Amino acid sequence: MPDQLTAAILAEALQGHPFRFFERIGSTNDAALEWALAGAPAGAVVVADEQTTGRGRMGRRWYTPPGQALALSVVLRPCIEPPHLQRITMLGGLAVSETLAEYVSEGVAIKWPNDVLLHQYKVCGVLSEVLWVGERLDAVILGIGINFNIDFSGMAIDATSLHQYTTQPVRRLDVLTKLLSRIDYWMDHLEDDSLLDGWRRQLITLGQYVRIPRRDGVLEGIADDVDELGALVIIDDAGQRHHIVAGDVWHVG
Ligand code: BTN
Repeated sequence: MPDQLTAAILAEALQGHPFRFFERIGSTNDAALEWALAGAPAGAVVVADEQTTGRGRMGRRWYTPPGQALALSVVLRPCIEPPHLQRITMLGGLAVSETLAEYVSEGVAIKWPNDVLLHQYKVCGVLSEVLWVGERLDAVILGIGINFNIDFSGMAIDATSLHQYTTQPVRRLDVLTKLLSRIDYWMDHLEDDSLLDGWRRQLITLGQYVRIPRRDGVLEGIADDVDELGALVIIDDAGQRHHIVAGDVWHVG
């Protein structure tokens, strides 16, 4: 079955979601941000077949070659207190992991805060960016990149593609429609405990000894829990607890 993405195909599949499709674009997050500023409604989605300057967390590049990945950014307009914004990122990771679990029977997990892994390798990244208008939270752009059939062999990164773990090729269109419906579901349950519980259940990081690079050195310890704001609770070797709100986590051993 062909795995083509075109505006006509999306128009039929994404009923109810206003969308913009680009065969090639810099970053879908930039396009969604621009659209949000111009008044895009909640749920509007930007999809691209290829990104030339896709962005990852912490200023990293995100690789989206044509025909081999899904790159999308959803405009969300949540009614949420700013300290709860991390819930949007949780929602993204959880929605992706639920969607992928429909295609692979095991090995789907979330690495804190928002990498979705397949058998320990990163298959998806989530980048949420917030648009403030003065003091008001105007929109959140939820950017999601999923690797479908990118060959990472020879590259020094711990990444993988969905097709490595499926017996049959999975169409990006099918994943996209399922994913959007999980995002819609969780947007209706954004403040519910079930979101935090579901995300926590998927977190592979809990119980692991981790190393977190910080401005003032490296924090090492056991990832003991996540708090209600999504911060990772680390118990260091001296038994002290630290709540980490952002950063890279290296699982050690
Ligand atoms: C990360 O793990 O560092 C986050 C990667 C997020 C990549 C997606 S692809 C769609 C959207 N557009 C971007 O430029 N970035 C996000």
